[in-house]
Amino acid sequence: MGGVNPYIDKPATELPTRKFRVTFILEATDETEVFEVDPSQIPYGRTGLEGSILDLAEGADIEIDHACGGVCACATCHVIVQQGLDTCSEATDDEEDMLDTGRGITPESRLGCQCVPNGKKDLIVLIPKWSKNLVSEND
Ligand code: FES
Repeated sequence: MGGVNPYIDKPATELPTRKFRVTFILEATDETEVFEVDPSQIPYGRTGLEGSILDLAEGADIEIDHACGGVCACATCHVIVQQGLDTCSEATDDEEDMLDTGRGITPESRLGCQCVPNGKKDLIVLIPKWSKNLVSEND
């Protein structure tokens, strides 16, 4: 795990115990990547909570912007969990507050660095087109 934000409560998470799949939909390029999560490989990266969608995206070589380093302090890692949200850790008040500062928020929106799936269902995760430096100055 990367940094830790001392000003927020650590969310309760349950890590997966079996393999499952995450389908990432990259709205900006209209591409889809399917990644098989292997629980023994978690954490895949160094940012966000262990096993978070941001962490799994690193494992899949998919870039999601994470300006604060994955410590629930920016909302640039906003993703939309289109399937499997009920198998993800509950959003804390801190995450909800930070999400409120984001763009294009939906009821399925989560911070990628804070949302940890337990692997009991496959996920479909949309990465909005304004994520990861894909927004032009004219947007
Ligand atoms: S990377 Fe900043 S809130 Fe997730």
